[in-house]
Amino acid sequence: MYRTVTCGELRIADVGKTVTLAGWVQRIRKMGGLTFIDLRDRYGLTQLAFNNDKLALAEGLGREFVLQVTGQVIERQSKNTQLPTGEIEIDVQSVNILNPALTPPFTIEDESDGGDDLRMKYRYLDLRRPIVRKNLELRHKMAFETRRYLDEQGFLEVETPVLVNSTPEGARDFVVPSRMNPGTFYALPQSPQTLKQLLMVSGFDRYFQIVKCFRDEDLRADRQPEFTQIDCEMSFIEQEDILNMFEGMIKHLFKTILNIDIPQLPRMTWADAMKYYGSDKPDTRFGMTFVELQDLFHAAEDKKAEEDKFSVFANANYIGGICAKGCATYTRKQLDALTDYVKRSQIGAKGMVYARVEEGGNVKSSVDKFYTQDVLQELKQAMNAEEGDLILILSGDDAMKTRKQLSELRLEMGRQLGLRDPKKFSCLWVIDFPMYEWSDEENRLMAMHHPFTSPKPEDIPLLDTDPASVRANAYDCVINGCEVGGGSIRIHEAGLQQKIFEILGFTPEQAQTKFGFLMNAFKYGAPPHGGLAYGLDRLVSIFAGLDSIRDCIAFPKNNQGKDVMLGAPSIIDQIQLDELQIDIRPQAK
Ligand code: AMO
Repeated sequence: MYRTVTCGELRIADVGKTVTLAGWVQRIRKMGGLTFIDLRDRYGLTQLAFNNDKLALAEGLGREFVLQVTGQVIERQSKNTQLPTGEIEIDVQSVNILNPALTPPFTIEDESDGGDDLRMKYRYLDLRRPIVRKNLELRHKMAFETRRYLDEQGFLEVETPVLVNSTPEGARDFVVPSRMNPGTFYALPQSPQTLKQLLMVSGFDRYFQIVKCFRDEDLRADRQPEFTQIDCEMSFIEQEDILNMFEGMIKHLFKTILNIDIPQLPRMTWADAMKYYGSDKPDTRFGMTFVELQDLFHAAEDKKAEEDKFSVFANANYIGGICAKGCATYTRKQLDALTDYVKRSQIGAKGMVYARVEEGGNVKSSVDKFYTQDVLQELKQAMNAEEGDLILILSGDDAMKTRKQLSELRLEMGRQLGLRDPKKFSCLWVIDFPMYEWSDEENRLMAMHHPFTSPKPEDIPLLDTDPASVRANAYDCVINGCEVGGGSIRIHEAGLQQKIFEILGFTPEQAQTKFGFLMNAFKYGAPPHGGLAYGLDRLVSIFAGLDSIRDCIAFPKNNQGKDVMLGAPSIIDQIQLDELQIDIRPQAK
């Protein structure tokens, strides 16, 4: 037997026992005639004490050596209340070096001295750090509780293939060449969307799968090229059933994992989310909602002579403000920094107007020379601002673009004011998404969710006249400003599906080639169905209060989509390329 106890379990009641532990050397401290070693395993740390004639046993040991140690549990002289095993130590009698170790390239402690790249290159060492290990333990528990909840609700976990054809979910596919069918490629699934719909046609009724999905898209803190969905689908349901079922799942996770009772999730239409937060994933941990000011300022402008007008506001289609409580004390330097923030190319605002509500109620603004105190008082009222508050205003021609800029400003103010506490959770449903969004890149309407989403029945007539205004039976689950899940009620009639493909610019032939399997399946009795998928990585990172989903993935990719430890992606042998009949050599002209 390698060990009789783990490094996390000994307590004062165990004093006197003779035990054997196995683990890694975390730290060695030499203090005169005594040597202490912290021994680490998955379960914790235990202090080993080498006394008098046993001192020699600690000689030659180094950090991360793998040891098997036998000794007696004794009470510590100076106790460590921070550590569960902090009241005891092991009076070591024998040491067996199971494996020596090179000195690790960074310290294996919660506060490591290793930079990101180094830690990713030696991810197996990084994963020894308790702080990282805890994230994976949390991930396991969340996946486990998800399965428990869905199993109790009668869902069946069904595996779907990974070598499939492309399903358009808005990203590029990763493709895999087929050796047996030269010149052809599989695509890795961006999600099992069409397959789960086929399972509904097969009558499975309640399906789920905790499943890897692959998307070749630009990476961000909340995006990985391969990530995990909790993918679900149900038959004979309406939107209400889905929202209730999966709200239940979120509540179950919060309760079982964090012991938090989440109130009923509020529902906000997409139109309101954009109007009041400038985002389809509003962070509702704090207010600071938008107030539209174009009417107020345009009325003021109308009363002025042409040469007195403030052209920025006079010509703007949209003017929106937020009120930062108690921020009238912001200095000119802070306000300039905020202006620079919204003018960054990623945000793209042209400038920012501000107004402070001073003691006594007077309003002092950066546009004082253009507006009377009366107009500024109207502004104060519209913004519901009080003494000591700061009003920040952005304007622009394109309402949607300006709202998105104002949303970034709101989030930044929320961050500066400490209103985005990772330990506080605010969940909601965003509903009634538009069916389509215009893509400047493709110069056509694109499905906002995916092409299998059904329009709201009352909006179906608009498909022919004004498709851009059609709303979908689509919904997202948002927590703390992060889209953790999304789904829709699906189309289950071949005819309507055909029409949606047409609006998306597919010819009937293209639609048949790409999606014939699905439209044919619909002709054999497809039940009304719908579903959703949660992003497991995002859920775990929110529960853990992490900034990036990378920290809750065992072996994540970096921002260039590379696994620096494995050296993936990599060049492959010419023999492999020849077998696949892929020629990547430069062609002679
Ligand atoms: P959607 O594309 O909204 O829907 O994806 C569902 C959820 O998956 C997560 N997610 C990601 N997580 C990490 N990295 C990524 N690159 C990434 N992309 C998406 C998000 C998102 O909310 N088939 C539909 C679901 C359905 O309609 O049932 C789908 O995939 O948390």
